[in-house]
Amino acid sequence: MTTASAPGKIILFGEHAVVYGRPALAVPIHAVQATATVTERADARILIEARELARRYALADARANDPLALIIRTTLARLNRGERVGLTIAVGSTIPIAGGLGSGAAISVAVARALANHFNATLSDAEISELAYGVEKIHHDTPSGIDNMVIAHDCAIVFRKGVGWDALKIAKPFWLAIADTGVASPTKITVGEVRRAWKQERALYEKYFDAMANVVERAREAMERGEPERLGALMDENQKLLEALGVSAESNERLIEAARRAGAWGAKLSGGGRGGNIIALVKDSTREEIARALDSAGAKRVILVEVKSEK
Ligand code: PMV
Repeated sequence: MTTASAPGKIILFGEHAVVYGRPALAVPIHAVQATATVTERADARILIEARELARRYALADARANDPLALIIRTTLARLNRGERVGLTIAVGSTIPIAGGLGSGAAISVAVARALANHFNATLSDAEISELAYGVEKIHHDTPSGIDNMVIAHDCAIVFRKGVGWDALKIAKPFWLAIADTGVASPTKITVGEVRRAWKQERALYEKYFDAMANVVERAREAMERGEPERLGALMDENQKLLEALGVSAESNERLIEAARRAGAWGAKLSGGGRGGNIIALVKDSTREEIARALDSAGAKRVILVEVKSEK
């Protein structure tokens, strides 16, 4: 039996604009994770067990576009293995689905790693990331690739679509509250809406994306210089731009306001938006208080995490 796991992720700055070539910052979140376990079977069939979905099915019977079937098939092909092997591949995850925490990419990365381990093969983080990217494409049409990248490499990154990533230096750790609106929001929908709006008002949207790139640059500089307090105002600025794009919702803004009122330095939605999760920059002294305020404002779950460079 072989097991592999992968963390969730949070986009700190630059979601949506990243689809249009601007840089974005993302970090892995180890408080939640996806796990895949591969066990041998006596027959020559591959069985998939998706615990959270309470589903058990044969690879041969999987629906077209089934993300688990796709990552299994592409990984087996990369490992030069056929499908006529006896395996049970069980997948579990504590990452909420469609919440902007990278659940899909984390599951893909965990499955690809567990299969490679099972066959005593080595796949590099870059290869694992590429395999997971293939699955991201079925979740929405134009994924930037940031989720698979940050999760496969498991470190804080500055990411640019089509260019690659650099490690993001975080000179001084800081704390975030991650609060779930409880509203599942498929990224495909907001990404599609932004694309339609961009086609209609290209100059305006390009201006928003440039403004986001500028926020990302200043946030990167603040982290590299060890001045995380500056990130609060930058989160507020990024949130305003996301509102201008039309991807923020009342469910996001209620939690963002609650965090700010309880003393957070700043807050924004994270990921696709229109629900999903928000992040707030919290002070060491008031983080529990802010978490309670988010609870009272209706957050489905609040995670406090310390963000730092090393794993
Ligand atoms: O997977 P999510 O919900 O964190 O969203 C990804 C971020 C987007 O920029 C909205 C889309 C993308 O492909 O980068």
